[in-house]
Order: sequence, then C-alpha cells, then structure tokens
Amino acid sequence: MVVLEAINLSKVYGGRGQPATRALHDFSFTVEKGEFVGVMGPSGSGKTTLLNLLATIDTPTSGTVRIEGVDTAKLKGDKLARFRRQRLGFVFQDYNLLDTLTLGENIILPLVLDRKPGRVIRERLNDVSRRLGIDNILHKYPYEVSGGQQQRAAAARAIIHEPAILLADEPTGNLDSKSARELMETFSVLNEVGRVTIAMVTHDPFAASYCRRILFIRDGRLYNEIHRGHSRQVFFQQILDVLAVIGGGNGENENPPPEGRETHPATARWGR
Ligand SMILES: Nc1ncnc2c1ncn2[C@@H]1O[C@H](COP(=O)(O)OP(=O)(O)O)[C@@H](O)[C@H]1O
Ligand SMILES: [Mg+2]
Repeated sequence: MVVLEAINLSKVYGGRGQPATRALHDFSFTVEKGEFVGVMGPSGSGKTTLLNLLATIDTPTSGTVRIEGVDTAKLKGDKLARFRRQRLGFVFQDYNLLDTLTLGENIILPLVLDRKPGRVIRERLNDVSRRLGIDNILHKYPYEVSGGQQQRAAAARAIIHEPAILLADEPTGNLDSKSARELMETFSVLNEVGRVTIAMVTHDPFAASYCRRILFIRDGRLYNEIHRGHSRQVFFQQILDVLAVIGGGNGENENPPPEGRETHPATARWGR
C-alpha cells in the first residue's frame, strides 16, 4: 500500500524582485507502508525543502503531495492542522520539546490535543515509552535528561498517535555517536517490529545505513536510489561511494577525499 506520493514536486524560493532559488525540480517518489527511506545529498541540495513539502509545513510551487491518498494542497486551515496532527509525526534535529512540560506530558500532547480518553492516553504512553526505552524518566523535564533521551521522547511523541508516516530531518544531527547509534537502532526496531513507516533526511552515512532504501538528491533533482541488501556494512560502503561522487555526507566537508573509504570519520564509528 502506498502511504506517500510526491509527484513532480518543484519549489522556487524568492522571485518578485528577490533572486529566485530553484530548490527542487520535478522530484517524484513514493513510499510504501512499512518502508524506512532515507534522503541524502550535499548541504543545500534541497533535502529540508523536500521534507517540509511532505510535512505540509511549506507548499510546492508545482506538483502534488498525497498522503494516504489525500492531496494535501486541498486541505486548509483547521483541516490541515488536524490532518498534520493525526496523520503525520515529526522529529527534528533540535528535539522541539516544550521546556515547561515533563517528557511524559510532551509525549502525550498529540493525544491530548485530540481529546483522546485518559485511559487510551495512559496505555499508549506506556507502550511507546517502553518501546523507546524511556519509561523510567517520564517524570523528568527536558533539561534534566541527555540529548539522546530528549530525542527519544521526541520520537515517542511523533509516533504515539500512530501516524501514516514518521518524517525526520537530521534526527541525529545534535547527538554524539553513541546516542545517534541508539536512536537509529530504535528507529530500526520501530520500523521492523512496529511497522512504523519512516522517511528520514540525513547527511550522516552512518545514520543512513539503517534505512532500507536511500534517495540521493543533488541540486534539487533525484540523482540515484539504492536499496539495502542483507549487510548494513556493505550498504554503508555503497552510501559512501555515492557520496564520494555527489559530495556531502560529512557535515562541513562537502567533498570527502577519494580515499574517503578508509578515512571517512563515520567509518570509525563502526567500532566493535
Ligand atoms: N526560505 C528560503 N528562502 C530562500 N531560499 C531558500 C529557503 N530555504 C532554502 N533555500 C535555498 O534552497 C536550497 C535548498 O535548501 P535546503 O532544502 O535547506 O537544503 P538542504 O536541507 O539539503 O541543506 C538552498 O540553495 C537554500 O539556500
Ligand atoms: Mg537541511
């Protein structure tokens, strides 16, 4: 079953006196239920633009986004807000938790806003917080826990209402390598065991190696697409090979050296 369809998406920023930037050109792809798709590309290639269009945070200059068959451009105002709240889940680089609420209160927000019964809220909180390994810190405030724990809480909040798709923009961007690994292992389990459909933007090849399929974007266009076989380590090398050609994948360093295969900092993170 197709969960998400992006059809000929284009986005032009500026214009009307401002210099125009064509951030996305005719970008099309689909996501099936249960997939874990990554989007990679150099800085400025259009990843966040694409994710914001999928997330209905921004509107395309042309093209269509359909989620569970619904053309999101047809939804306005309250209907759009409700659709977003009920059918989409988001995780961003900077967690976006509310400082004045405990982790538990943050996580249940989507259900509270939807006026779900207390019993349902308690059951779902119990379930997702266990799945994310944060059931023992729900009473803590965001500033009392680590970045990794905050991001797990954000992930719990993003799936508590069982959205059609979890959309993540650089979810490991602020995490140390251990927390990043733990978050990606959790995403894998959510995807494989919990059947959560995930689309994740990242420039980190290590995080991307947890996906089952990767779309590479360059200058706003789909450049290539690769699928993971049995081995995540082989997939990781394949990702590095594509990035060596298109650039990116290494934070500030847009053009890893040709010997990047051996020296790429992410390679060291495989450890034992
Ligand atoms: N709000 C905006 N106004 C004008 N230009 C933008 C805006 N957002 C992004 N861009 C431009 O669009 C291009 C793609 O940006 P972005 O989607 O953020 O790339 P990425 O997430 O891959 O780094 C870049 O050239 C960027 O400068
Ligand atoms: Mg971005």
